[in-house]
Amino acid sequence: MKQAGKQLVLVLDFGGQYKELIARRVRELNVYSEIRSGAMSADEIRALQPDGLILTGGPSSVYLPNSQLCDPRLFDLGIPVLGICYGMHLMAHTLGGVVGPGGTREYGVVRAMYHGEPRNVLMSHFDCVKTLPDGFVCTGSTDICEIAAFENAERRLYATQFHPEVTHTERGSEIIADFLFNVCGLTADYFLADIADRLCQDVRRQVGSARVLLALSGGVDSAVVAALLSKAVPGQTKCVFVDHGLMRQDEGDQIERVFGARELEFRRVNAADRFLTALAGQTDPETKRKLIGEEFIKTFIDTIPDPGEYFFAQGTIYPDVIESGFSQTGDAAVIKSHHNVGGLPEEYKRRFLGITEPLRGLFKDEVRQIGRMLGLPDALVERQPFPGPGLGIRIIGDITQEKLDILRRADAIFRAEVDTLPFAERPDQYFAVLTNLRTVGVTGDERSYGYLLALRAVQTDDFMTCKYTKLPHELLDRASQRITNEIREIGRVVYDITDKPPATLEWE
Ligand code: XMP
Repeated sequence: MKQAGKQLVLVLDFGGQYKELIARRVRELNVYSEIRSGAMSADEIRALQPDGLILTGGPSSVYLPNSQLCDPRLFDLGIPVLGICYGMHLMAHTLGGVVGPGGTREYGVVRAMYHGEPRNVLMSHFDCVKTLPDGFVCTGSTDICEIAAFENAERRLYATQFHPEVTHTERGSEIIADFLFNVCGLTADYFLADIADRLCQDVRRQVGSARVLLALSGGVDSAVVAALLSKAVPGQTKCVFVDHGLMRQDEGDQIERVFGARELEFRRVNAADRFLTALAGQTDPETKRKLIGEEFIKTFIDTIPDPGEYFFAQGTIYPDVIESGFSQTGDAAVIKSHHNVGGLPEEYKRRFLGITEPLRGLFKDEVRQIGRMLGLPDALVERQPFPGPGLGIRIIGDITQEKLDILRRADAIFRAEVDTLPFAERPDQYFAVLTNLRTVGVTGDERSYGYLLALRAVQTDDFMTCKYTKLPHELLDRASQRITNEIREIGRVVYDITDKPPATLEWE
């Protein structure tokens, strides 16, 4: 929500895949932005007093029935608008221009003319603006798309068919900056250093002198909440770290080292035995997830004498809020029941004094930066995503202490080898999976019968889809040699070369 006297740019979502990227680009230029549904009415928009609007891309065609249109009055609010891709079609269509199917699809980086200068831009469209609305001039074109950008400077309405928010578009960020600073007349005033201070003040104001309880999962978000609480309300904060014994090598100790030294009450609950007992003999992935989730909640609740004495702190971040706010995927099939393993049941949460979610306005990269500002080590802040059920879903079939030990060692070797790559070349997620297959080998002169281990490394923007990473063969070679030499129980190593879809990231 716009703070009094503060600037705000609204990104109106029409279902495009880059909505978060657009909002992040605006924030990177130090202007605060929020994502809202494209279905908002002009009155609702006006009430938020935004200084600029950006209309995102989207999958529909404006001229088809049932496509999501915008409130036509939004162009009369006197607020500058930048339409991108489908957002450009909306502007043209609403203001009397003509949009129709292009003769050829145009996907990928192409050469365009923009304001008389050539540059590479990312195009991803089939429809094109065929006729400009009255009062608009064409400012860009490509070989395939005659009107690739247009504007009406007097009304402060601008649009591009290409995507200025992606890095493949040359000087795309300049186009956004031009819109913010020259068209909307904004100045840079959104700085994370100030934000960290404001978040601390907000938490203090919200909780007053009450105590605050946080379940530390070991992930980035809850770690940053803990760091924030230790600064904002140090004497009042209690962090409970339920160690389910399914963490990666040294992870539990690292969390204890970092947070045990902070100004807060830190409690590590070593519950590995409890989880192993609950999981004994269970082989079905969904059952394992459910049991781990339930055990986590029970263990955590056992540590709280009376929730009515505490605020409950959660590491919710902005993408979680957007997804639960107006995601259009409510009916999607349940592939895996994941993501909030360890989330407390709603009726239990209501027994707390209240809920505090200090990071709910921030993107992941902002959360990481705030974490760094608050002095968290890079190893924690840069951590790749790790599922709540941990190694429990990276051991195919039943889980035993022995298998956990084997997987932990193999996974640590693989990660260490991948980490020899320069940071920018590392995959977004990489890990080992212990299968329940055994295969025949020969060690010295003897027959061996060890586990099959799989390695997985992927590139992804959103974890909804991914491409497997083409890791250098020398790296895979080193990892395989080290793993089979150092871990006698593993007889064979394979590399997973499947994308998502059709496979998911995790094997279970
Ligand atoms: P999938 O396997 O669904 O994974 O392609 C997508 C992303 O989600 C993570 N993941 C989970 N996270 N609890 C979680 O908190 C889970 O049960 C779970 N399963 C998968 C996975 O690591 C990847 O980043």
